[in-house]
Amino acid sequence: MLPSSSETIAETRAAVASARSAGKRIGFVPTMGALHAGHASLIRAARLDSDFTVVSIFVNPTQFGPNEDFTRYPRTLAADRELCGAVGTDLIFSPTVPEMYPPTSRTIVEVPALQDVLCGRARPGHFRGVATVVLKLLEIVRPDVAVFGQKDAQQALVIRRMVADLNVPVTIRVHPTVRESDGLAMSSRNRYLDPTQRLHATCLHRALVAAENLVANGERSIVALQSTLAGIIQGTPGAQLDYAEIRDADTLDVMTALDRPALVALAVYFGSTRLIDNTLLNF
Ligand code: PAJ
Repeated sequence: MLPSSSETIAETRAAVASARSAGKRIGFVPTMGALHAGHASLIRAARLDSDFTVVSIFVNPTQFGPNEDFTRYPRTLAADRELCGAVGTDLIFSPTVPEMYPPTSRTIVEVPALQDVLCGRARPGHFRGVATVVLKLLEIVRPDVAVFGQKDAQQALVIRRMVADLNVPVTIRVHPTVRESDGLAMSSRNRYLDPTQRLHATCLHRALVAAENLVANGERSIVALQSTLAGIIQGTPGAQLDYAEIRDADTLDVMTALDRPALVALAVYFGSTRLIDNTLLNF
């Protein structure tokens, strides 16, 4: 069965209010559409933890830079509805841009430091756009639980920080990355890759696994690990390294020693397509 859908904030609030007054717990998965099995696993996780599951589909213009892919970002609403229906979504919220950002809109949310490192360097303004739209969506839906993907680790940290700092009454869950059978993290942007780039795009996962194996065998030098990561990416045809870094898993601070949970994070360009991936090292 296809889920019901709403394009307006008022209708969405009314539908959620009636579910809540029926005693239902509200789960929420914000997305930009072009849904794949990674999104599906988030929706299933939200469903397991709620009685009424809302998925938003909104390609948020404020998180794209001027030379990024906002206009060509894949928009596949009919297929997205099918996928949402198949995994048991109750309501799809797919607002227009003016519904979310009327011309009078001015307020933005900043999460300094966390937003400036890693992907924030190549994408200035990106996390401000993400934090702002996610706070708006949380205010519109007012869910009990919202589910995000570990695939976008920095995004999840920015959102956790924002929700804690601004006392937003929601539980944030972060769900593991879903991968293709060859290890490539699923992403709406994978469809930009040509067949050769797609073949070589497994280098991100290979590099992360190599780093995990080195650590399992006792390697503790961050410099050595970062250079292994970079070497695997730089040795891959068509791949251009943006960053390969190991940072504190909560604060994203630079680490001098592997003495606490660490995030191993990669960003790699194939042509103009930018892919990211990461893994957590727990001690
Ligand atoms: P989008 O890229 O559509 O991703 C929506 C959610 O799906 C995010 O929480 C993301 O981390 C998660 N996700 C994407 N690929 C995944 C994978 N392979 N495995 C597990 N989870 C995956 O992220 C955004 O949209 C936007 O920035 C948004 C939060 C909606 C704000 O506009």
